[in-house]
Amino acid sequence: MAVLMDGKAVSAAVRGRIRLDCEAFTKKFGRAPGLSVILVGNDPASCVYVRNKKRACEEVGFSSSVYELPGNTTQEELLLLIDRLNRDPAVDGILVQLPLPAHLDEKAVTLAIRPEKDVDAFHPINVGAVCAGEYTFVPCTPAGVMELLAYYGIDPAGKDCVVIGRSNIVGKPQALLLLEKNATVTVCHSRTVGLAEHTRRADILVSAVGKAGFVRADMVKPGAVVIDVGMNRNAEGKLCGDVDFPAVEPLCSYITPVPGGVGPMTITMLLPKTLTAAEKNLANQEKAIDNTY
Ligand code: GUN
Repeated sequence: MAVLMDGKAVSAAVRGRIRLDCEAFTKKFGRAPGLSVILVGNDPASCVYVRNKKRACEEVGFSSSVYELPGNTTQEELLLLIDRLNRDPAVDGILVQLPLPAHLDEKAVTLAIRPEKDVDAFHPINVGAVCAGEYTFVPCTPAGVMELLAYYGIDPAGKDCVVIGRSNIVGKPQALLLLEKNATVTVCHSRTVGLAEHTRRADILVSAVGKAGFVRADMVKPGAVVIDVGMNRNAEGKLCGDVDFPAVEPLCSYITPVPGGVGPMTITMLLPKTLTAAEKNLANQEKAIDNTY
C-alpha cells in the first residue's frame, strides 16, 4: 500500500507558516501583502480557481482584489488595467487567470505584467530565470509538487524522473525544477514513441496530461513515487486525475490522490510567492526613497 501524499495537510502547514510571516510583514510595513487577480469571462474552472485563490489570500491575512471583467473585454481595456496595477505601489502580485477568451492575446498579456509582480512566473524574464536556476518566482503547480516531495522527504537527486506533458505552466518548469534537484529527467509528450518504456523506468513519475485513466499499472515501476497533476472528470462526472488510481496505487511507494493531492498545493504556492513579491516591492520602494536623498 502506498503512502497518500496529503496535499491538504501540506497546504495547511505552508499556510500556517505564511500566516505568521504575513503578521510580521504587516506589523513591520503597516499594510498586508497584496495580490490582484484578473478574471476575464466566466469559464467555470477559472471561476473556481479564482475564488479559491481569493479565499487562500484572506485565510493568511493578505489583501486581495479580484477584477472580474466581462468576456467581451478588449485587449486595450485589459492592458490598461494591467498597466494601472503595474504602477500601483500597494499591488505586490498580479495574476491573470488563464485561459483567456480566444479574442485576447495571451502572450501580449503575459508580457505586459511587470516581471517583479508576475507571481505566476509566466513572463519570459521569469521563465528564463527558472531555466538559469536563479529565480524569484516559479509556476505554482510544479512548485507545489516540489513542496510535496520535500515534505515527504523524497529527494529527487540521482533519481530517474519522468514528466508526462510539456506545457509552459506545468511540464517544462517541472522538468527544470527536478533537474535543479539533481534528478535525471525525461520529458514525454503526445509524440513520444514507446511512452510506457520511459515511464516504467521512473522512480518519480509526474503526469500532467489531462486524460482520466491515462497512466495505467503497466506503465509504473513497482515502488515508484507517482504524482498526478491531472484534473479531469470521469464518465460519472467525478473529479479524477490522469492515473488509474485503484490499479496503480498498490504498486507505488507514494502517490497523490485527486482530489486532495497536487490541487490544494497549486493554490497555496501562490502565497509564499506573493509574500516574496511584497518583500521585494517594499525593499525596492525603500531603495528608491534612499536614492532621492
Ligand atoms: N490556469 C491554469 N493554471 C493556471 C495558473 O497557475 N495560473 C494562471 N494565471 N492561470 C492558470
